[in-house]
Amino acid sequence: MHTSGRDTLPKQGIPDGHTATTWLRVLTVTWVNSFTGHAVDLDAIGVVRRRRDVAVVVNASQAICARPFQAAATAVDAVVSCGYKWLCGPYGMVTDATAVLTELGVERARIHRELFYVEDAPPPEVHHAEPPAGPGAEVTVILDGRTSTVTVPPGTPVLDGAQKVRPDLPFACKGGVCGTCRARVVAGKVTMRRNFALEEDELRAGYVLTCQSLAVSDAVTVDYDG
Ligand code: FES
Repeated sequence: MHTSGRDTLPKQGIPDGHTATTWLRVLTVTWVNSFTGHAVDLDAIGVVRRRRDVAVVVNASQAICARPFQAAATAVDAVVSCGYKWLCGPYGMVTDATAVLTELGVERARIHRELFYVEDAPPPEVHHAEPPAGPGAEVTVILDGRTSTVTVPPGTPVLDGAQKVRPDLPFACKGGVCGTCRARVVAGKVTMRRNFALEEDELRAGYVLTCQSLAVSDAVTVDYDG
C-alpha cells in the first residue's frame, strides 16, 4: 500500500473538484496479495476515500477472474490489471486453476505457472531401451557463452553428469518441478523422466529439464543460454 503527494493526471483522469495543479492524495493498493492471498476490503477503502478525499487506484491483477468485481459498485477511482495470470503453488492446485481459467476463456499462453512441489506420486520413469553403449554419452553444455564437455555415464541425468565440470549450472529442485535447470537441446537426443515444469510450446522448441534428461544418443549438446 502506498500513498503519494502531488500527481499530474491527464485531464480525463482528474476527479471532480480537482484541477491539474491540485495537490492530490492518491492511495494505490493491491487488492489481493500474491503471496498471502490476503484481500483488501474495497468497501472499507471506499469509506476512507469518502472521508479523506483520497483518490484510490486498485491493482486487481491477482483478483480479476477469481473474485466477483463490478467497477461501478466500488468506490475506487481506477482499476489496473495485467493481462496475465500467474499460478504459483502445489501441482494439483495449479493444474485445477489452469483448467478453470481455460474454461473461463483465458488463453493458455496468458497463464504462467510456478510449481512449489508435486504432491502426487511421480509418473513412472521412462527408460530408453538402448542407452549409449560404453562409458556413456559425450555431453556438451553451454552456459554464459562458455562450452564444456564431459562423459556422462548411462542412467545419469545430464545435469548431474555435467555438474562435475560445470558446478555453476542452474538447478533447484532436481525433481522436474521448478524448471530452473531448463536448457535447449541443440544436438543429439535426450529423454526426460518426468516434467512438471515445461509447457508444450517449450518442448516443441527443444527445451528440456536437464535434471530429468538422460542422453539417448552418443553425443548431446544442451544450451542454457538460449
Ligand atoms: S532443477 Fe527443478 S526441474 Fe530441474
